[in-house]
Amino acid sequence: MATIKSGIPGLDDLFGPDEFPKGRQILITGPPGSGKTVFGLQFLINGALLSAEPGVFISFDDLPRHIRADMVSFGWNIKQLEEEFNPPLITLVDGFSARVGLTTDEKYTIKANVDSLLLVLTEILEDTGATRVCIDSLSTLSTIIKDPAQVRKEILTLGAILGEQGCTTLLTAETSALGVEEYSSQGLIRLSYDELSTGEFRRAILVQKMRGFDHEFSWKEFRITSDGIKIFPDRTIGRGHFK
Ligand SMILES: Nc1ncnc2c1ncn2[C@@H]1O[C@H](COP(=O)(O)OP(=O)(O)OP(=O)(O)O)[C@@H](O)[C@H]1O
Ligand SMILES: [Mg+2]
Repeated sequence: MATIKSGIPGLDDLFGPDEFPKGRQILITGPPGSGKTVFGLQFLINGALLSAEPGVFISFDDLPRHIRADMVSFGWNIKQLEEEFNPPLITLVDGFSARVGLTTDEKYTIKANVDSLLLVLTEILEDTGATRVCIDSLSTLSTIIKDPAQVRKEILTLGAILGEQGCTTLLTAETSALGVEEYSSQGLIRLSYDELSTGEFRRAILVQKMRGFDHEFSWKEFRITSDGIKIFPDRTIGRGHFK
């Protein structure tokens, strides 16, 4: 099995060969604020910084300038990765502005439909040789394509094209929006949180499905700190939490 270093501390330990699946299409699901966007960006940014793998982040949920600003709190300088390398180590794609009727100065923009997504993605992959892609979020994209059968077909097409090019793709989705996406993707990772009796909250992650891979199959604690996401593979979260 082809594998990569994910760049997210603790994540690779959840897999048999201690490395993350390469060239696969993996769904990252979770409720609001569970860390889906940070997970996707950390995968790309650390992939760029630690493994020199160029990445593409397609944002349907927020403006690229907000993402650049938010990630500074983790010490991640996206602008530098976009501008100071040739080809760029990170490419941000604005899928937000057109959807809400805003104008944008971003170099790469897409209307929220799969055709323009594929077109823009293909162009960026050619330009940058990107091997990591994150689409944030599939839930938003699915509000445009209403027919579930069509969503499934589009995801399969997207996965086939990106997989063919050796790209590892993360697709984020809200838990409530789950449906066909769970079945179409090759892997499913769930992020969640729950309240302890003390009133504190704990975050947890579950690798629910990963075709072709042996993997941990229980909820593991993770934290979001000023360094980003850190997973604790030794801390299994007990029954009754993290539904
Ligand atoms: N610098 C930071 N240090 C620690 N935790 C942070 C930091 N920045 C953000 N967080 C935590 O990460 C959470 C945001 O995570 P993220 O945006 O990835 O969630 P999400 O699952 O994408 O949410 P949504 O469904 O709203 O898009 C914040 O609510 C906060 O708890
Ligand atoms: Mg998000």
